[in-house]
Amino acid sequence: MNNMDTEIFDLFTQYEEGMDRAAEVIRQGGLVGFPTETVYGLGADAMNEEAVRSIYIAKGRPSNNPLIVHICDMSQLDILVKDVPKRALELMERFWPGPFTAVLDKRPEVNGTVSGGLNTVAVRMPSNRYASELIRRSGRVIAAPSGNLSGKPSPTTAKHMKDDFMGKIPVILDGGRADVGVESTVCDLRGDVPVILRPGGITAEMIRSAAGSVEISGGVLKKLSEGEKALSPGMLYRHYSPKAEVYVAQGADEADTVKRINDAYDGYERQGRPCVIFCLDGNAGLYRGRNTYPLGKDAGQMASNLFDALRKADEDSMSVVLFEAVSLDGMGLAVMNRIIRAAGFKTI
Ligand code: TXA
Ligand code: MG
Repeated sequence: MNNMDTEIFDLFTQYEEGMDRAAEVIRQGGLVGFPTETVYGLGADAMNEEAVRSIYIAKGRPSNNPLIVHICDMSQLDILVKDVPKRALELMERFWPGPFTAVLDKRPEVNGTVSGGLNTVAVRMPSNRYASELIRRSGRVIAAPSGNLSGKPSPTTAKHMKDDFMGKIPVILDGGRADVGVESTVCDLRGDVPVILRPGGITAEMIRSAAGSVEISGGVLKKLSEGEKALSPGMLYRHYSPKAEVYVAQGADEADTVKRINDAYDGYERQGRPCVIFCLDGNAGLYRGRNTYPLGKDAGQMASNLFDALRKADEDSMSVVLFEAVSLDGMGLAVMNRIIRAAGFKTI
């Protein structure tokens, strides 16, 4: 799979050409890097098992970690799932198109490679117009994990995808920045109460207000212990990790968090290890004289900038990233879920 020519299409100037070529590659069983509103995806025809297998190979992804299948209209849902509960349908209609992924019982026709051997399938209708048009033009449903090498931070720009897949896949569509910046919310909709398996662009509060109640799976913020069943297999793996070591600072209060970060920073600096602090814009002044990447004014903006910042830390040859914990409401839950994994659960 190495050393093939990768064609890059800038969708602002090469829309028709890029879309036609990418749709053709999908139909022929090839892989396409494409933008969505959450992160870039690495797509293939979901009903072509051989094509789906090549996604796992290209990413170096464990074969028991299932993929999300992307659709562009409700009629495509029937290809993938059977007997959709009424409550589930209401939530899909409420949050689609958008960063919401429904886990439902799969049809037997859906191959076990896409579902990682489970009898369920994860389905999402993206709102990004390029993603939607690629699905429509290819005439297929598209399986797509985030377009990063397994374990690395997810890509939010075409450049990130190039960094990981140049010379390894035939086409990358450049549609600008992925706005949400973290992946979709993966939600098991089979039972009475929706269960969030992975927090993301649609918040727990939004789901609760639409459904009346919501559960958050145990693996979202803590490490699953050995033998504990992972409802979402992706939760098992170290993830989103830059080369730099990442630590999450969670003090008893803000002053304590700041002290922990500053003490750790100064200690690493004395060892000659370059550090950077990831913080809210408004808090940068609390770390005066130290290297900071302010990630935004709230958790939503932090989500949008997080993966780019993790990749930038490596480009800037940082040895340590110190992350100021954010509160868990709204997009904070998704941000903390990602950073805790990037840190391999290490805290200070
Ligand atoms: O926003 C997104 O969801 C992006 C864009 C490209 O759409 N995709 C994405 O895919 O994040 P990926 O493969 O990086 O993450 C999919 C997550 C994994 O944690 C996986 O374990 C979980 O969804 N998942 C997929 N199918 C599942 C299933 N049948 N049951 C439970 N979890 C599932
Ligand atoms: Mg991923």
